[in-house]
Amino acid sequence: MKQIQVGLIGFGTVGSGLAETLFEQKERLQKKVGAEIVLSQVADTSRKTLPKHFSGITLTKDANDIFTNPDIDIVVELIGGLEPARSFLLEAIKHGKHVVTANKALLSIHGKEIFEAAVANNVEVGFEASVGGGIPVIKSLKEGLVANRINSIMGIMNGTANYILTKMTDHGVPFAEVLKDAQELGFAEADPTYDVEGIDTAHKLAILMTIAYGTYVHLDNINTEGISDIEPVDIEFAREFGCRIKLLAISHHHGDHVEARVHPTMVPTSHMLANINGAYNAIHFNGDTVGNVLFYGLGAGKMPTGSAVAADVVDIGRNILCSSVNRVPALSYLPENIGTPKITPMSKLTCPYYFRITALDHPGVLETIAGIFNKHGISIKSVIQKSRHQFDPVSIVLLSHTANEEAVQNSIEEINALDVCTKKTVKIRILSDKE
Ligand code: HSE
Repeated sequence: MKQIQVGLIGFGTVGSGLAETLFEQKERLQKKVGAEIVLSQVADTSRKTLPKHFSGITLTKDANDIFTNPDIDIVVELIGGLEPARSFLLEAIKHGKHVVTANKALLSIHGKEIFEAAVANNVEVGFEASVGGGIPVIKSLKEGLVANRINSIMGIMNGTANYILTKMTDHGVPFAEVLKDAQELGFAEADPTYDVEGIDTAHKLAILMTIAYGTYVHLDNINTEGISDIEPVDIEFAREFGCRIKLLAISHHHGDHVEARVHPTMVPTSHMLANINGAYNAIHFNGDTVGNVLFYGLGAGKMPTGSAVAADVVDIGRNILCSSVNRVPALSYLPENIGTPKITPMSKLTCPYYFRITALDHPGVLETIAGIFNKHGISIKSVIQKSRHQFDPVSIVLLSHTANEEAVQNSIEEINALDVCTKKTVKIRILSDKE
């Protein structure tokens, strides 16, 4: 039987998930592919041995051994981070190897360079595992939704942040404790601030926008805010307003410009995204032909991500066997048709807002705050001040009607500068009815 040989760089959580998947699904894959998919070489600087059932795999510390191995067809990079991952991928491509990666950080920053190198060397780049863990969202976007103009992308794309918010909401567990759980479960990034500060979600949104719109979207194009300022009191207020707080990635295509933002969002409980809990991800597209489509599944973890990497390996293996390499362009659009995006400035955004202002409970404070919002053209929908502590600052919570982001920022600056304000004002955007 023919063989497709795979070299793997990085035998960590996802790398071992890929190895287990190829091992456990060996016969099934042979029946589906008509060839044996063999993980034949692993490069890992921190391992002396591999688990016993992988005794047939050669282990090396030097990734160059894989690039120069003439039997290897596909190089899988699963070490994460920018360097040496970038150099490894470029080197593998230069050696004529097809490459597979789960490295969303790398693709959202150096994607253009990597995809262009792959085109120049006529090799494939598989990156299904870079977004949505086990959810086959990239293949669906490239192939299943090919006949659509994508109008919007919206989703929960970070398992760790969603796990933290779910535990805080449903069980009242403090932030730090839940983060520790997520790290132990293997969801969190090596640097968990990427999860918590929305950066990992921004990596993924940049990749999806690139494919959806046919423009190279860079991490720097995404306006990014995380969940670290969210306190249990915000979660409680959200509940009272019939919402749950979710870290959302949101992009709308407005014709000649596109929105690109990641931030905590109050989502009405009647909305599907409010009910995506734990480490689950959900990614919603609106296409002009298909309408609304929602993808749901485990967005992180060893085996779901291993499943996605294995799918890329199989896709490339099939293309090699059928001599149809790059039948589907890596980014769906042909390389010569990929442009540069025009990003909508964040100051132009309009949506309803939640504000939590921490202030001393003095006469006239509310009137002053209302006056500032009024001056900036922001219309208040409701106000809550729960309890009165004579000497302590209190939380004053306001919901606005649809307001403009620039006016909101200017108002918050003025409010924070008031002598009676004792803490930074927290603002959370509310998902509008249109979305
Ligand atoms: N740290 C990521 C998450 C892993 O929590 O979703 C998957 O990309």
